[in-house]
Amino acid sequence: MRRVVCPGSFDPITNGHLDIIGRAARLYDEVVVAVLINIEKSSLFTVEERIDTLSTVTKQYENVRVAKFHGLLVDFCKANDIPAIVKGIRVVSDFDYELQMAQLNFQLSGVETLFMPTNPKYSFLSSSRVKEIARYGGDVSGLVPDLVHKLLIERLRG
Ligand code: PNS
Repeated sequence: MRRVVCPGSFDPITNGHLDIIGRAARLYDEVVVAVLINIEKSSLFTVEERIDTLSTVTKQYENVRVAKFHGLLVDFCKANDIPAIVKGIRVVSDFDYELQMAQLNFQLSGVETLFMPTNPKYSFLSSSRVKEIARYGGDVSGLVPDLVHKLLIERLRG
């Protein structure tokens, strides 16, 4: 089975993430969306909330499953028999950062990283910006799945 992991914080998932997950799902037998448990970073949504949301918005893809991990991504890959990581690249600065991470991950474990150019519709999009816009009352519909839009409004203005 050809398997790939799509890792991230997903706090929250954006339409940019969803686009990469959907495109990876067309190329691979199974896509594992892996949510990083990061106790050092404060988040708007808990890991369990993010997992629930990811599971709901990826329900349309039969070959996508959602998991969580802590520690090194490559250890998660090894434990789950995943030979490759897929990462979306929005802009050149993403590439600079991701290239180093990909090379380190390969050096550590032999796990490959595949870069997928982000759909230009979403090249400006990030979870942090979405949260900032929503926090100050801006309209993030069209930037995130409808469910996330609703959850953001509830969490930030509720
Ligand atoms: O959505 P994010 O926060 O940009 O995702 C970053 C993530 C989770 C992909 C990255 O931080 C990661 O892989 N963290 C796990 C720790 C690790 O393996 N670091 C790499 C050492 S080379």
